[in-house]
Amino acid sequence: MSTLEKLDHVSEESICRLVDAFYAKIRIDPELGPIFARAIPGDWQPHLTKMYAFWSSVMLTSGRYKGNPVAKHLEVEGIRLELFQRWLALFDETCGELFDDRLRGEFGRKAARIAESLKLALFYRPDRPWPPAQPA
Ligand code: HEM
Repeated sequence: MSTLEKLDHVSEESICRLVDAFYAKIRIDPELGPIFARAIPGDWQPHLTKMYAFWSSVMLTSGRYKGNPVAKHLEVEGIRLELFQRWLALFDETCGELFDDRLRGEFGRKAARIAESLKLALFYRPDRPWPPAQPA
């Protein structure tokens, strides 16, 4: 897609495209792929549908997402602090393929903020420095 064709507004339809393209990358990523494959061994559509609602809530304030991401991620086997950087990089790359620079930045900032709160909820311990000097 050339720069001119990149989207300058967010819609439910473009969120679906973003989510589909992002998780296609996630699934073939050598580090993240196996973690997701273990957590979602069967049909991916329920996860994708949930993620459409999530990003619609975040970017369009539609209120469509109902859930508890912290509780869900606490159950994800193999999730590690340092993998969040990879997750965010793949997400940013995908946003850059679909959206113009302004929206790419907006998605990226929201994702980074949510990632930070997930990391804190999952990995912060009062007896250790934050951010950790070494991966937790
Ligand atoms: C290393 C980073 C991450 C990993 C490995 C990861 C992994 C997963 C997995 C495996 C699920 C499916 C859980 C299940 O259905 O059993 C999930 C759900 C979800 N993830 Fe992540 N995730 C990561 C980061 C993020 C980030 C940064 C965000 C938001 C910006 C996010 C948002 C969500 C949401 C909203 C759900 C749906 C929760 C629900 O069921 O309501 N994740 N994640």
